[in-house]
Amino acid sequence: MATPDPVPPTVAWRAGRIRLIDQRALPGRLRYVECATVAAVVGAIVDLTVRGAPAIGATGAYGVALAARTERTPAAVRRAAARVRRARPTAVNLAHGVDHVLAVHDAAVAAGDDPAAATLTAARAYAAADVRANRALGANGADLVPRGARVLTHCNAGALACVGYGTAVGVIRAAHERGRLHSVWVDETRPVLQGARLTAWELDRCGIPHTLVVDGAAAGLMARGLVDLVVVGADRVAADGAVANKIGTYGLAVAARHHGVPFVVAAPLATVDPDTPDGAAIVIEDRGPDEVTHLGGVRVAPVGTTAANPAFDVTPAALVSALVTEVGVVERPTRARIARHLREAARGD
Ligand code: MRU
Repeated sequence: MATPDPVPPTVAWRAGRIRLIDQRALPGRLRYVECATVAAVVGAIVDLTVRGAPAIGATGAYGVALAARTERTPAAVRRAAARVRRARPTAVNLAHGVDHVLAVHDAAVAAGDDPAAATLTAARAYAAADVRANRALGANGADLVPRGARVLTHCNAGALACVGYGTAVGVIRAAHERGRLHSVWVDETRPVLQGARLTAWELDRCGIPHTLVVDGAAAGLMARGLVDLVVVGADRVAADGAVANKIGTYGLAVAARHHGVPFVVAAPLATVDPDTPDGAAIVIEDRGPDEVTHLGGVRVAPVGTTAANPAFDVTPAALVSALVTEVGVVERPTRARIARHLREAARGD
């Protein structure tokens, strides 16, 4: 029998509802939220109950399956799908997951088949494919990890950000499984601390040695020769190779280049968006100021302080050493190399 994964599935279908790990409660409590309505799905994506690009993609996929059960007409299902798709703008996976299952819905309606059954089968397959892709990209990325490496990561691109296994953390897990990893530096990732709350929790469950640092420590660690590789996930990779990821990623990439540290982006093909021509075309989500003025619900800035809260930034391809997907590695990604990678993936090379 296969050993159960140390991190339970982030997103699942259970008895007609979408069951999500409530990521707001971690690391204190592992608890679940069940969404029985499309409004609850949208709310869970907006308030970060579920977060991370592939995880919200799978939630979007299940959201359409839910809508196919709760809405009365195909037109109402399409409107519901559009609401889910709009819940967060930056991660392309959300649109990808919704569009994939909505196409199955429309085909089932046109063929006179049962759209509820067809969409649920499609959403389940979509979620299962995420875990397979992450295991494959983890194995591909582990080849890039030097023996005995001290790896730095930002935000949470782990199992919690996906359906399972993780992207950047998938690379870390695969490197650890091969005995290549020394340890992980975990950026805390202000404002909402995905690194401190989620990545540290996951690495602990996986038995991977790690040390939490404040975001401002990363460049200094590199200057002292204490980081051998940076690996991060992505919310969207544009056709020119620009990478949108959690705010602070761009600064890490600049520091990594300055110090000659390889900067690796690990993302499934569902995150690579050929329809977004370049980094400037990526919509960056602005979240509420309270996430900045407060820490864990406690105000840390004077009342009345103005705060800006861009949730993501864009790292130009020129700063990326390698893009790792489930089908291979694109070294020093450029528009042409990414297009070739996507063509090869489509042909199944
Ligand atoms: O705001 P979040 O927590 O959804 O942001 C998540 C990230 O930026 C992750 O790094 C990204 O989605 C990749 S997850 C595999």
